[in-house]
Amino acid sequence: MSQTKLVSPEELARQDEYAALLHEYWIARRQEPPRAFVHTYGCQGNEADSERLRGLLARCGFGFCNSAEEADLALFNTCAVREHAEDRVFGNVGRLKGLRQTRGLRIALCGCMVQQAHVAEKLRRSFPFVDLVFGTHALHRLPELLYQMYAGGRRVFEIADTPGEIAEGLPLRRDSAFKAWLPIMYGCDNFCSYCVVPLVRGRERSRAPEVLLEEARGLVAAGYKEITLLGQNVNSYRSGDYDFPRLLRELDAIEGDFWLRFMTSHPKDCSPALLETMAAGRHIARHLHLPVQCGSDRVLAAMNRGYTQAQYLALAALAREYMPDLRMTSDIIVGFPGETYEEFRETLTLVDAVGYASLFTFLYSPREGTRAAAMPDPVPHAEKVRWFQELTALQEAKAAAGCAALPGKILRLLCETPGKRQALAGRSEGSQMVEFDGPTELIGQFVHVRVTKARGWLLDGERILQESPCPQGMGAIKHTP
Ligand code: 5AD
Ligand code: SF4
Repeated sequence: MSQTKLVSPEELARQDEYAALLHEYWIARRQEPPRAFVHTYGCQGNEADSERLRGLLARCGFGFCNSAEEADLALFNTCAVREHAEDRVFGNVGRLKGLRQTRGLRIALCGCMVQQAHVAEKLRRSFPFVDLVFGTHALHRLPELLYQMYAGGRRVFEIADTPGEIAEGLPLRRDSAFKAWLPIMYGCDNFCSYCVVPLVRGRERSRAPEVLLEEARGLVAAGYKEITLLGQNVNSYRSGDYDFPRLLRELDAIEGDFWLRFMTSHPKDCSPALLETMAAGRHIARHLHLPVQCGSDRVLAAMNRGYTQAQYLALAALAREYMPDLRMTSDIIVGFPGETYEEFRETLTLVDAVGYASLFTFLYSPREGTRAAAMPDPVPHAEKVRWFQELTALQEAKAAAGCAALPGKILRLLCETPGKRQALAGRSEGSQMVEFDGPTELIGQFVHVRVTKARGWLLDGERILQESPCPQGMGAIKHTP
């Protein structure tokens, strides 16, 4: 891991000066403070970045709205992991061209997709109505870039790579009052051969444990019920004497009623010490997202994953030894270049053996600049789609069989949203969604629910009002609301 450099206090103060200049700019033009629409594509890391982008926009005087049609500035925080995500951004931005002409809407793009030089070049040449483009390394410089765009009256492109920097202390506008993202590290050093992330997010760098512990204490004190630690590979977190299990243990020691989650764990770095920490945790959800990507040893080696099927299965078995009630989830790529049907069937065998609670499955998508993009890829798309469907069918059957055993069981849920079939929907420690009836005031609270019905993986339940201990043994709370 490279040395973590913090963005200097002088640089952050310079950005505050630009925010102040923007306030003056609105006043001088007798202009209502503009309204921004921020749209996020991709992973939770991007969601967390968008909370900082909104914080910076608020500091510059912006208000917020929920659509580009009402907005003065549309900011798209983009993803580069698969081609499909990039196509959606180009499509959505193209549709705003008219608003740029009729209403003077300013259009800005940031994040992983535009950090790629070839994408920035395409935007520069073929999307003249895009006003501002900045990459992942320039996020904290949003006030300066906006000032250049508005006061300078010109298009602004900033995609330079400043490896190994972290900006601490940025203003933050969180999306939720009860679920919080807590990025613990940025970047990735693994260079899986299909993945563009190391090229657009730079080298691994970890945030200081004191900063993270203080932020987590603040969140718990503010009533947050779930904190999700984020990083491309949280198991390689390192800062001074702290590794990931130690960080997790100290976060778990915070008093309060909350769940701690983390993602993503790379199997090659997932240690028995981490499993032991999870098993002993008071707040740590018994859920492990451990992407396997595929089941064939030859393909795993070509992907540069650093483990074999047997090693992965041994790790999964060890995890279940520590935590018999552990729920596991995974990411899988179907149709890696050169993968044969026989090799794909090894993925099916592995999925059958592990018994995942759910899977995120992806068709392989070639990414410019990655090693896999140069590998021969002879299997036709339609054939890969058939494999994909075979995998989906297997997983659906397995998940449904797991859910069929749930009716009658009591689960502790964090009530998150209105439901589709019933008034409310909540998620269990193991990330099972259950719908149930109750007043909307329960959103953001822990509740206990008895599962009444399972249809496929759709679960319905009824709220248990009497005192009931938490069935998973994580019963920091003894009373239901
Ligand atoms: N094609 C398809 N899926 C990919 N992922 C990453 N890169 C690619 C790609 N080029 C998937 C992996 C990763 C998840 C976040 O996205 O499964 O774990
Ligand atoms: Fe991409 Fe592999 Fe890093 Fe995950 S661990 S972000 S798949 S390179």
